[in-house]
Amino acid sequence: MLSTKPAADWALDSEARAEGVAACFRETFGSEPELWARAPGRVDLMGSHTDYNLGFVLTLPISRDTWIAARRRDDRTVRVHSMNVDAGDEFRLDGIESVSESRWRNYVRGVAATLEGEGLALTGCDAAIHSTVPLESGLSSSAALECALATMFAGLGGWSLTPERMALLCQKAENEFVGVKCGILDQYSSCLGREGCALLLDCRDLATRAVRVADGIRVVVCNTMSPRRLSGGEYARRRAECEEGAARLGVSALRDVTPEMLAARRRELPERVARRCDFIVAESGRAERLAPALTLNDREAAARLCAESFAGARDLYEICSPAMAAMMEAMLAAPGVIGARQAGAGFGGSMVALVDAASTDAFRTSVGDAYHSATRMVPEIYPVEAAQGAEVFDKEKINVARALVRAMSALLPTPAATGRSSVE
Ligand code: GLA
Repeated sequence: MLSTKPAADWALDSEARAEGVAACFRETFGSEPELWARAPGRVDLMGSHTDYNLGFVLTLPISRDTWIAARRRDDRTVRVHSMNVDAGDEFRLDGIESVSESRWRNYVRGVAATLEGEGLALTGCDAAIHSTVPLESGLSSSAALECALATMFAGLGGWSLTPERMALLCQKAENEFVGVKCGILDQYSSCLGREGCALLLDCRDLATRAVRVADGIRVVVCNTMSPRRLSGGEYARRRAECEEGAARLGVSALRDVTPEMLAARRRELPERVARRCDFIVAESGRAERLAPALTLNDREAAARLCAESFAGARDLYEICSPAMAAMMEAMLAAPGVIGARQAGAGFGGSMVALVDAASTDAFRTSVGDAYHSATRMVPEIYPVEAAQGAEVFDKEKINVARALVRAMSALLPTPAATGRSSVE
């Protein structure tokens, strides 16, 4: 039997992790950190590629996150050390330039440059970074890094941003400084997460609605461990095809296209563009429908919506790889599965399953064995919890505080929607 445990198990224990990060800080910078910031990764439960089409996404900010231990400096130098890649960077806050190697450094530089560009008072600092979001796996490790950095700069500078504005600035850093034309999904998930809830995000007006997932359902990430090398170019191509579809249909974004309108005017579109539009229009509607299904524990609806989503991603949007098809088969054959589908941009990386809580262990074992037999690759399969968004935290109290919030949210009724937030 295969071990499907994620590699860095020690890091999932908050106390051990805090000790490890503090020790790295001490060793690298020769002093003690004074501020701790964190921000989560995310897994999308429904709504692939709907964000840049201004549609709906149902997203789960997850209990895999990026931590930064930091200390202010008296000058305008930023020194960072990433424990995940065991490498550092050093730059001055004046005239920040991008680098051509080690792209993670551009995320750090990009966030600093973007916040500086907004006229926010940044201080120089030393920072040790550690992430439990697996890199390059479709769970937004880059957004977690960006949002944790912005939170750190705010904490050290003594100012604050609304989570909405922070998300938009981090997206700007990624779009303009790093040069990745992502939508808003990743940064919004990382900044607006609420412990215990998924979020239904309306990418047009950027309103979010907290969505409770019924107690008996667990969200399980299934990482194919197959690299996503082609995703950059393919992502840009999908985006361009959607824009072409919207332009030909005379709307500013596919969000404005209803299924009826698309059916009536489909012939005006080139075949491939029509298929992309079919997927996006249906997928956005599925995100809206999966939200109440998860709260009401409507497993049949959840299964159907996930199956439609995967079929569309494979046949219409064409973002599936052979490894994803093998993982899908393994997930659907495993005990306790409710529904399964792709996650992130596709083209490899992680997938996601909704699993009957009592069968989680059996599900993990079965998927691990079946996927390995089919592909000879060893997957990572682990359940995730809905996590709080980016925040400064007290490392001494993180376990106690988390347990308290969990206990309190268990006492709350389970409404379909709790609270709404919109951009200022
Ligand atoms: C990537 C992008 C997001 C989103 C997803 C697909 O994660 O960064 O903005 O487009 O792909 O839903």
